[in-house]
Amino acid sequence: MIQLTKRYRFCASHRLHSKFLSDVQNKETYGKCNNPHGHGHDYVIEITLSGRIDPATGRLARVECLDQLVEREVVARFDHRNLNEEIPEMAGVVPTTENLVLEIARRLRDSWHTAFQEPSPALQAIRIYETPRNIFGVIYL
Ligand code: NI
Repeated sequence: MIQLTKRYRFCASHRLHSKFLSDVQNKETYGKCNNPHGHGHDYVIEITLSGRIDPATGRLARVECLDQLVEREVVARFDHRNLNEEIPEMAGVVPTTENLVLEIARRLRDSWHTAFQEPSPALQAIRIYETPRNIFGVIYL
């Protein structure tokens, strides 16, 4: 099996605050990320595909199909957005990067098979770098 990973970027802001916690608990849990005015991140997202090489092209997948899918479902949707206010699908959850990567995974999987010509490669993993040291992901086994 061959793997391919592509990296994309988007910027977004958020505030970590849970309605299930008191103000004191929110501050204890999220620290400065609980700042009422929010803060931004330059998120880096890595998407890993796996599958077999198409003997006709020598390639695993048409990377432009992935680029178009990610542009439409991730970058256009999240870039320069406030994750607390502008993403209805995330209303009601704290916009941690754990919840963000789950929402992105849901969007990618919903459109995956229409984005590629057959046979589509498998979506193997999604990783989001909230900062260079804080990385969250979803893997499919
Ligand atoms: Ni943050």
